[in-house]
Amino acid sequence: MLQTVILAVLLVTGSSWVPSVGRPAAFPRSSSLFSAPPTADPFQAPLSADDYIACGLAQCFRMVDGKLRDAFIYEPLTAGSLETIEKQVETSYKAVLALSASDFFVGDPNTATEINMANIECLKEVTGIADVEMCSNAVERAQCASRTFRRRLEAKTLAIGEMSDDYNFSTEKKRILDEVKVVSFDDNVKQDSSIDVYGRTDDEEAAAAEIEKLANA
Ligand SMILES: *[C@@H]1O[C@H](CO)[C@@H](O)[C@H](O)[C@H]1NC(C)=O
Repeated sequence: MLQTVILAVLLVTGSSWVPSVGRPAAFPRSSSLFSAPPTADPFQAPLSADDYIACGLAQCFRMVDGKLRDAFIYEPLTAGSLETIEKQVETSYKAVLALSASDFFVGDPNTATEINMANIECLKEVTGIADVEMCSNAVERAQCASRTFRRRLEAKTLAIGEMSDDYNFSTEKKRILDEVKVVSFDDNVKQDSSIDVYGRTDDEEAAAAEIEKLANA
């Protein structure tokens, strides 16, 4: 009450008045690195039945008996990937289907161990590809990829249940499955390598040429 009276007086006289506090004004004690409980973080909150899943069908390759063979895979897409292919950037994706988490996973999306293959079969029909395998770690990847759409609603370019093959499909840059990277001494001296106009080193260029040769074998 006394303070209120003093403040009123000082305001009238035009002087500035600084409230006195016991210690310097700082962030409240409760303010820490995490401003919200973990469940409020879009990347932590459990998946719900209507979380968004974008499942793509990609053309990859696999080395079989020294020859490069087609290998088609189903693969969950992140928001960034879906936005990228929607911009007609060349990718290995032939078609994409959007569906809800409850339609993609068998059972609770958070504890699922299986994917409901029957619900993504339509990707085979639209692309005319008979033999498609599921990518590795599909459940975990889909759970993570789904969460990326929570903060990028504009990436949901397909409505749930919608499918599109209106993308810029290309296999110019071949994705090879199950490839084992052998680290060589050359990796230590990459900075000495020359780089071509595509930003590729001599080694990568040679590898790309070799992949082309094997693909046509
Ligand atoms: C597909 O990508 C290539 C390479 O970036 C580009 O030249 C071409 O215009 C794209 N096609 C469409 C339909 O946008």
